[in-house]
Amino acid sequence: MTVHSSAAALEAHADAFQRRFGASPSAVWFSPGRVNTMGAHLDYNGGPVMPCAIDRGTFVALRLRSDGVVRMASSSFETVLEWPLAALPTRREQRWSDYPLGVLQALLARAEAPPGFDILYGGDLAIGAGLSSSASVCVGTARAVAEAWGLTLSAEAVVETALLAERGFVGVRCGIMDPYAIAMARSGSLLWLDCRDRSWESVPLDLDAVSIAVADTQVRRELAQSAFNERVQQCASAFEVLRTLQPEATCLRDITRATYLRGKSMLEAPLALRAQHVVDEVERTFAARAALQRGDVSGFGAAMTAAHHSLRDLFEVSVPELDCLVDAACGVSGVHGSRLTGAGFGGCVVVLLQRGREDAVREACTQAFARRFQREPLIEIYRPSGGPVRWL
Ligand code: GLA
Repeated sequence: MTVHSSAAALEAHADAFQRRFGASPSAVWFSPGRVNTMGAHLDYNGGPVMPCAIDRGTFVALRLRSDGVVRMASSSFETVLEWPLAALPTRREQRWSDYPLGVLQALLARAEAPPGFDILYGGDLAIGAGLSSSASVCVGTARAVAEAWGLTLSAEAVVETALLAERGFVGVRCGIMDPYAIAMARSGSLLWLDCRDRSWESVPLDLDAVSIAVADTQVRRELAQSAFNERVQQCASAFEVLRTLQPEATCLRDITRATYLRGKSMLEAPLALRAQHVVDEVERTFAARAALQRGDVSGFGAAMTAAHHSLRDLFEVSVPELDCLVDAACGVSGVHGSRLTGAGFGGCVVVLLQRGREDAVREACTQAFARRFQREPLIEIYRPSGGPVRWL
């Protein structure tokens, strides 16, 4: 069992289900969140990414019903939502339930006369902090409901279901990294995913040697979605220009440094910066994987910090709170590297550090942040987790 904290928390979730619905759940699932290490903003450019699932996530408790009704609740809200399974909303309703509903709509297309159920969501993952709470919910729902309905889904089909929910139903222009990071996760490893052909492999981390700290600025990312969509659009526009110099290229990831250097004067100012980030980050991510494979964790960490500087200066998705934490963490001996995680514009930084240096990182980040912003960041230590797992 790879779930860290959470035997007690999952048990409490099963009790909460019993209180809400008057019977105990027949299954309780844990679905992890994720942090990014390398491959920042590369997934929608067809590049390689190296996310890592973490041992905090979403809890999904469920029990089948015999009357064709779906009742859905979240431990964060009082209301219990209820629909006949045959009349589930087919459009988003602008609330948290859109994510699971999108998954249910995708699964209904695969199921024959499935039963209704009661389902309760909860968990120990910060929401909206760049730890992929939405993909955690979608992948966890796909696994839990598919099993309850007797559907066999490959890991790839789980990813497709989560993407249909987020892109099709909720309407978010998200990349493919997050559901892969969660559905394909192996305990104690980073995932290597090549987003051009979707090939993937696990890259083991030496868990006796390293820890992952996540420091949350608690700056919530109100602007994140529109700014994220703008970056996606800018990368697409840069690619349209640069591909005229390299017609065989299929995505921005294919654009070589030589092409970029020849073509950058054809790009308007922010587009040239965005494209340079992508060209650099692709090279950096391949080099970082090679470093990790030869046991050079410091080299890998240095690439993470370089990625952050590029996100700050070229991709322009950082904020002062994130930069402050990255700088403070990187000043601590035993820290290999640090960068913002998720899309940016707020949320968390991830720190890769030598095991045993957790307190030093905590102290340095807390002090530097409090001096500058007069409040404290939330700092947690995570272990790399496996993918969704049925706990009960
Ligand atoms: C968000 C998106 C991901 C990815 C990252 C940036 O988290 O959901 O698909 O694009 O930003 O690397």
